[in-house]
Amino acid sequence: MARRILITGASGLLGAHLAAALSRECEVTGVDRHPWWGDEPIRLIQEDLTTAPAAAARLIREAAPDVVIHCAAMTNVDACEQEPARAEAVNAGLTRAIAHTLPASCLLVYISTDGVLSGEAACSTEEAVPAPRTAYGRSKLEGERAVLSASDRHLVVRTNFYGWSSGRKRTAGEWLYGALADGQPITLFHDIYFTPIYVMDVVDALQALIARRGRGLVHVGGRDRVSKEQFGRLMAELGGFSAAQARSGSVEQAPLAASRPKDTSLSSARYEQAAGRAAPSCRDGLLRFLADQTRPLSRRVLAGDPQPRAGAPTVQA
Ligand SMILES: NC(=O)c1ccc[n+]([C@@H]2O[C@H](COP(=O)([O-])OP(=O)(O)OC[C@H]3O[C@@H](n4cnc5c(N)ncnc54)[C@H](OP(=O)(O)O)[C@@H]3O)[C@@H](O)[C@H]2O)c1
Repeated sequence: MARRILITGASGLLGAHLAAALSRECEVTGVDRHPWWGDEPIRLIQEDLTTAPAAAARLIREAAPDVVIHCAAMTNVDACEQEPARAEAVNAGLTRAIAHTLPASCLLVYISTDGVLSGEAACSTEEAVPAPRTAYGRSKLEGERAVLSASDRHLVVRTNFYGWSSGRKRTAGEWLYGALADGQPITLFHDIYFTPIYVMDVVDALQALIARRGRGLVHVGGRDRVSKEQFGRLMAELGGFSAAQARSGSVEQAPLAASRPKDTSLSSARYEQAAGRAAPSCRDGLLRFLADQTRPLSRRVLAGDPQPRAGAPTVQA
């Protein structure tokens, strides 16, 4: 593993879990608009990387990283649809600036999304032609292209994860858990398919890929393709909640600013081969998520079990 790591978006969902995990063996510098909320001793620089044009270059010069993991992004899909220019500036422009500033010796890991896919095929491989349906997806695809054209050593990871945040900005997984635990009436989409993966499993995957010098484009998803409804009902079952108040519905009926692609499930075969391990099942990921709810970040890292459990049951789509 590298010695000095710079993580952008280090107070966000993925960035914070990465920072907590990597700080056990590396010198971690984080940058984010928001304060650090973990208990690990990382150096967090609180600033907005898009307000000052030279901010990214200065930060890279000061932190002198071996690896940059670029998580900062405008992640609200509907907000991106309403403000495409801002989405473009953050998700593509900032990524381009970072990619062009890095010294040749530094590895850039760009966290991208299954939302760059058209949503018309199941379990897409890296060979699938991207055709994003949303402003978010288009801006992230531009970010991917900026990274891959800057150097063939860089790594672009497409994923879609869930986990526990700082509480500042509730994640979809937290919202779902809260609604199920409280028995609120909710609609679970039966016609949106994905391959969700728990955030700590993404952290484990990124550590493995960086250690094995992964490069190019890699999909990192869960092993199971599930609908949003199957995912919600499995969370309810494993969490011991009644799903009686959850009704099955179609995304077509939902009043969303950005129309969602229907099937963004990923094949993680390339990752499995590169990392030498299986992608986690939906059940194992959710069990890890549920067990981590009351743990602080540092304990989530220590509780991690990156090895898949043999014979674990999987969810059928
Ligand atoms: N969550 C998912 O399921 C998912 C799925 C696929 C891909 N991804 C990708 O994974 C990466 C991490 O996602 P996440 O869910 O961890 O996101 P997140 O929780 O929103 O974290 C991103 C962090 O970066 C900050 N940030 C954004 N722009 C910034 C800027 N210009 N300067 C400084 N800080 C900035 C955000 O602040 P604000 O909150 O104020 O913007 C936030 O704290 C993103 O690149 C995202 O596109 C996420």
